[in-house]
Amino acid sequence: MVLKNRIVKSAMSDSLGDGTGHPTVSQFRLYQRWASGGVAASIIGEVQGQPGFAEKPGNLVLNAAADLDRFQTLAASGRENDAQLWLQLGHAGALSYAPTSCAKGPSALDLPGLSCAALSTDDIAQIPAEFAQTARLAQQAGFGGVQVHAAHGFLLRLVFVAVV
Ligand SMILES: Cc1cc2nc3c(=O)[nH]c(=O)nc-3n(C[C@H](O)[C@H](O)[C@H](O)COP(=O)(O)O)c2cc1C
Repeated sequence: MVLKNRIVKSAMSDSLGDGTGHPTVSQFRLYQRWASGGVAASIIGEVQGQPGFAEKPGNLVLNAAADLDRFQTLAASGRENDAQLWLQLGHAGALSYAPTSCAKGPSALDLPGLSCAALSTDDIAQIPAEFAQTARLAQQAGFGGVQVHAAHGFLLRLVFVAVV
């Protein structure tokens, strides 16, 4: 991927989704403004494949149940002025937002400020296909690329630590 300059707006979960996992007019405007301001690429943080492991209720959720038209409008807003708009694919694992999720990680944890149940081996086997499906839908909607989220405490980093 060749970007038009070196300025990239790093992934941030913007909490601007509508609560059903769909983008809002505020998001269309935000990414359009960054694009028209000259940024080469913006990355929307924490776009989920499953609603049950969101990091916040305002996360986008892009899966087979999503209304792709609304994601297409978002992608088009961020493509103005030859900019790129990418989605960061997330699964919040043990850090899933407690009021709306049943947090699960690779192992059950009961630590101060961090507790979750264990994913089953079937759950774990399913996750790569979910990430792939969201990436495919992102491409169909017109986003320029995806980034895989693996920050400390979230699902993939915990899997990595478990493997090490
Ligand atoms: C409000 C906010 C939300 C963020 N959300 C994410 C996120 O969803 N995914 C991620 O990988 N990093 C996230 N970050 C981290 C940023 O992408 C970035 O790495 C961090 O702010 C350090 O860069 P800076 O020194 O330029 O601020 C977030 C940061 C902020 C301030």
